[in-house]
Amino acid sequence: MSCAIQCKNLTKKFHNRIAVNDLTLSIKKGSIYGFLGPNGSGKSTTIRMLCGLLVPTSGSGTVLGFDVTKESESIKQRIGYMSQKFSLYEDLTVEENLQFYAGVYGIAGRELKQRKADLIEMAGLTGREKQLAGSLSGGWKQRLALSCALLHRPELLILDEPTAGVDPVSRRIFWDVIHDLARQGITILVTTHYMDEAETCDEIGFIFFGNLLTHGTPKSLISEMNADNLEDVFITLVQQQEAAQAELGQKVGRK
Ligand SMILES: Nc1ncnc2c1ncn2[C@@H]1O[C@H](COP(=O)(O)OP(=O)(O)O)[C@@H](O)[C@H]1O
Ligand SMILES: [Mg+2]
Repeated sequence: MSCAIQCKNLTKKFHNRIAVNDLTLSIKKGSIYGFLGPNGSGKSTTIRMLCGLLVPTSGSGTVLGFDVTKESESIKQRIGYMSQKFSLYEDLTVEENLQFYAGVYGIAGRELKQRKADLIEMAGLTGREKQLAGSLSGGWKQRLALSCALLHRPELLILDEPTAGVDPVSRRIFWDVIHDLARQGITILVTTHYMDEAETCDEIGFIFFGNLLTHGTPKSLISEMNADNLEDVFITLVQQQEAAQAELGQKVGRK
């Protein structure tokens, strides 16, 4: 099995607080991996370590074969990253945003012209090239941000809550694009709170306050937990964890 991401016992502490605890996982090349968990569970922190933006406190990991602690520059060149707050320049047009990111990645000339045309078409932004990014609706902004993240033809795309606050039609269009990209062989790691999106991932991992509770295909998780759907799996896992924490709290209180 060829893996795009592998990490072992990856841990991040902020002061004395553990944000990510002993995370071990592997993500197959060309697959879509959905990372689920309540807010504050450590999803973005994990992503930032995998992108080489944050140094792990302990543990190890490789992304596209490069070490997350020692080869972060090589990782950054090969991945596309869309952060929770996508980094568009609102006072630049659609085309100028693409041009700006092309400059960052060192893409110019004929290659830039072709890439821009392909990505504008992929994002359905044809005819909006001269429109200011700030005046686009949430769905268009999101697809422009995705186009910017794809300019340098990354092998791995990391998307942190790309569809938060976006209308259902735009979410559907966005996910059609994501599935197309996966069919082209691009690996995708995506965080989401939407279970309809998670159900279309090849594999998903549930993280709860720093701990990866379970992972597998959506079908296998639903059947293992004897649940009707992923939402039930998610709610059951969270309730189990909350009950375990409450019990622990009572024990500590009794001591
Ligand atoms: N730079 C930071 N400094 C201190 N604490 C942080 C920092 N970044 C994240 N955290 C904490 O780490 C935990 C996990 O956060 P995060 O990874 O953003 O979770 P998620 O993306 O799942 O919502 C939270 O308790 C958050 O407050
Ligand atoms: Mg987050």
